[in-house]
This record gives sequence, C-alpha cells and structure tokens, in this order.
Amino acid sequence: MASLRVTLGTLALRNPVLSASGTFGHGLEMQGFCPPSAIGGLVSKTVTLRPRPGNPLPRLCETSGGLLNSIGLENRGIDAYVRDVVPVVASADTWIVTNIGGEAPGDFAELAERLDACDAIDAFEVNLSCPNVQGGKLPFGTDPVAAARVIELVRARTRKPVWAKLSPNVARIGEMARAVEGAGADAVTAVNTLLGMAVDWRSRSAGLATVQGGYSGPPIKPVALRCAWECSRAVAIPVIGCGGIQCAADVLEFLVAGCTAVQVGTWSFADPGALARLPGEIAALLDAARVDDVGCLIGTLRDGLGPRPVRAATVAGA
Ligand SMILES: Cc1cc2nc3c(=O)[nH]c(=O)nc-3n(C[C@H](O)[C@H](O)[C@H](O)COP(=O)(O)O)c2cc1C
Repeated sequence: MASLRVTLGTLALRNPVLSASGTFGHGLEMQGFCPPSAIGGLVSKTVTLRPRPGNPLPRLCETSGGLLNSIGLENRGIDAYVRDVVPVVASADTWIVTNIGGEAPGDFAELAERLDACDAIDAFEVNLSCPNVQGGKLPFGTDPVAAARVIELVRARTRKPVWAKLSPNVARIGEMARAVEGAGADAVTAVNTLLGMAVDWRSRSAGLATVQGGYSGPPIKPVALRCAWECSRAVAIPVIGCGGIQCAADVLEFLVAGCTAVQVGTWSFADPGALARLPGEIAALLDAARVDDVGCLIGTLRDGLGPRPVRAATVAGA
C-alpha cells in the first residue's frame, strides 16, 4: 500500500489529512466518527483569551451550494480550554494543533505564552483571517504588515510550530504568505472562508443575522486551490490546503498544487465519517495509479513556472 506519510516542518504526519478549525469540535467530540489515530492531526476551534458568546442567530445558512456561517468565534476562552480540553486531548494519538484568535496583536501573544506551557499542544494555528469578528474588518487578515506583527509576537513566545491561517479575501495572497514567512511562521494554512451573504427576497431578510459571513464547502474549492497554489509559489515553508475538500481526489489535487497537507472542514458536517475514510481512499487512488508515496505528488503541478521556492531541510518528529 502507498505510503501516506508527509513531513510538515518538524512534525511527521501519518497522513496528510487534518480536521479544519471550527468544524470538528476541539478534537475528541468526533471520535465516535473518527478515531484521532486515523488522521494526521486535529485542529481545535479558535480559542480566545476571554469567553465569546458568538454572533446572534441565525448564524448558519445553507445555500444552493455551500454553507454560510457567522459563528463569531464562540468559545469558552483560554481558561476553560486549558482546564477542560487540554487534559482530554493529551491522550489523543495524533498531533494536536490549537487555533488561536484575538482582537488585538497582544491577545495572540498572551494566548501563545500561556498555551506554550501545555505539553499536549504540538503546534499553533494563528487565525489571522476570521471574517466573522468586527464584520471581517480586523486588519491582520488583509494587511501583510499587521499579519507579520501578530506572527512575530507569537513566534517570540513559543518554540512550538506556528502556522498562519490566511484569508482568501485579499487581492494578493502570496504577499500575505511571504509576510508571515518572514515573521517566522513555520507553515501557512490556505484558506479560511470567503466573505459571502444570502438573501430571502420574500421576507427581505438576510440569511445571517450579521448579513455577511464566511462561505465554505465544495463550491469554494477552485478558489481555495488557487490560493494554496499561489502561496506555495510564494514561500518555502509548507502550505496546508483548506477549502471545499470532500474526497480523496480533492486531497491529491491540493498536494499536486503545492500543499504538504490539507484540512477538511464543512464536509464533516455533511459526512462526519469522511475524515476517517479519506486516508484509505487516498491510498487506494495512489495504488491504482502506481504511486507508492504520496509525498512524490507534492508541488508537481505542470504550471510552466519552473522550480518552486526551496524548502529547508526538515527534522522529522515522532
Ligand atoms: C461552522 C464553521 C466554523 C468555523 N470556525 C472556524 C474557527 O473557529 N477558526 C478558524 O480558523 N476557521 C474556522 N472555520 C473555517 C474552516 O476551518 C475552513 O477554513 C473553511 O471552512 C474552509 O474549508 P471547508 O470548505 O473545508 O469548510 C469555520 C468554518 C465553518 C463552516
């Protein structure tokens, strides 16, 4: 059977499939559908310094294709996360990635400092890109200087790997990727949700109480794929693809486009067992194509642009 192992900076993953933040609880809520040992890593819902009640209802709206959400980073805050979640995920047989979010750069720094002490956490994903806080107007997601500042602050407070999660709602995502790489990010996650909205013309009401929200699911795959490819062309650090993935072929497309691993989000709502099945389905596709190592596919797109930025030698973890 084909090898599915990939190396993401200092983390050796058993396969390139991870859960996407906010769609899989904090990790173990979904273990009835997906044992942690089946996948490469679990990414938590965004954790903030203080508890957040989230946005008013309705904050989920299905469209004719894809999902709109404006959850607004509802979570119980770092104290509850450290007290109730960290001890539980410590036993999970996979990498634990904690996604952190804030309203000011100092929030991210404080979160990183406090969570750095938790051995159960293997990496941070910095949510620079939530469209549902302050109407998507926070500058970290769209301004390379502000994004770099946040990553610098987090980098200075932890030795754990730092992944920067980018927004697709920018003109040049490659510039954002370069900025966070320069600030010390170990990987880039591309992407968070696209800004969108829905309208019911009969009631003249918007589908979401906040009117605008984050659009996700299979219809965003072409946009996410383009963003991930652009990032992989811009930086030497690994890129983690995210957006619209629902099957094994989707995963391999992101790898060929330049990603080292992927995250699956909205599709877990449609098919909660999908994440657990994906690795086997990827292996079956590779075996049928006589590819014996999934790593051979990474960044092999014939885009006519010549060699990609050189990746530094990596140290494989356990
Ligand atoms: C209901 C919902 C909640 C989400 N919450 C978060 C979150 O807390 N933090 C975050 O970084 N991304 C969050 N996301 C974004 C996803 O992690 C992912 O980047 C996005 O949905 C695109 O992937 P997908 O099309 O596979 O869902 C959320 C997405 C959805 C649908």
